[in-house]
Amino acid sequence: MATILAIESSCDETSAAVCRDGKILSNLIASQAIHQQYGGVVPELASRAHMQHIVPVVDAALLKAGSTISSVDAIAFTQAPGLIGSLLVGAQFAKSLALSLGKPLIAVHHMQAHVLANLIGDDPPAFPFLCLTVSGGHTQIVLAKAPLDLEVIGETIDDAAGEAFDKSAKLLGLPYPGGPLIDRYAKNGDPLAYKFAEPQIPELNFSFSGLKTSILYFLQKQEPGFIQENLPDLCASIQYTIVQILLKKLKKAVQQTGVKNICIAGGVSANSGLRNALLEMGMKQGWKTHIPAFEYCTDNAGMIAVTAYYKYLAGEFAGMEISPSARN
Ligand code: KG4
Ligand code: ZN
Repeated sequence: MATILAIESSCDETSAAVCRDGKILSNLIASQAIHQQYGGVVPELASRAHMQHIVPVVDAALLKAGSTISSVDAIAFTQAPGLIGSLLVGAQFAKSLALSLGKPLIAVHHMQAHVLANLIGDDPPAFPFLCLTVSGGHTQIVLAKAPLDLEVIGETIDDAAGEAFDKSAKLLGLPYPGGPLIDRYAKNGDPLAYKFAEPQIPELNFSFSGLKTSILYFLQKQEPGFIQENLPDLCASIQYTIVQILLKKLKKAVQQTGVKNICIAGGVSANSGLRNALLEMGMKQGWKTHIPAFEYCTDNAGMIAVTAYYKYLAGEFAGMEISPSARN
């Protein structure tokens, strides 16, 4: 039996989770509301908030799991990628715990963890599977051959899908992060009301920077009050365009690899338009689709814990000299 305490602090959520033999016992997240007033995550404020939250969140996660710190077999943390000041808080905390308790330390890659979040729950996908990983910082198609054998076969050449949502929302005057708000307004809008240009990018790669420009030019041509009067239609059309860009490449990846087990991961996989369109396309194409529960889509330590469990089984431990990295 292996019980793992995991800490995630790569961006603006302080999260701690406990898992036993790959099964999540607790997964708690303290969000940082402070960034909303600045229209984006302020790195310095994020690290300060992590320092305030980390002890209570870890305590609460252990309590909820019915575990104590001394009964834990390993301490895991997010090592990369992310905001360096935020990563440092989690890494230093995990290293101090591991050192003082004499427990092994496990370093986890945030993007690998997003993919492996699909393994949480009673009906995990079979390997190999393709995973569309869509977050605020990344957009990737990953070929997962085994838990620790993941290959990125396509990715964005500029903005991530989450940024496309958030930047579009900003143009519509919506507060940060705008992705979930676009999702909410889109429910009452017509996805075909407005058409925005889709990029022509080779292979399995993505581009989203042109979409923002296309929306900006479109809005500049409209009368005052246009956004307020047409918000649901605008949100539905923007969401539809982003979802189409993602699903077209996913379909191409299935054709190229022959793999029909399909997963999604990352904050944008919480988007209801994407989830519904993926299920529909999956049924039409004969794919076996798997969508993680909402709490494991956005940043959370549960996904770090599960990834750490596979690293624990493989004996992949980190030394005390390890330091976090903002990039891969
Ligand atoms: O994975 P994540 O929580 O953090 C990163 O690692 O980046 O992803 C955050 C991103 C943000 O851009 C946010 O707007 C987007 O996920 N997001 C959504 C939804 N929920 C979160 N975008 C569209 N619809 C949603 N429902
Ligand atoms: Zn993430």
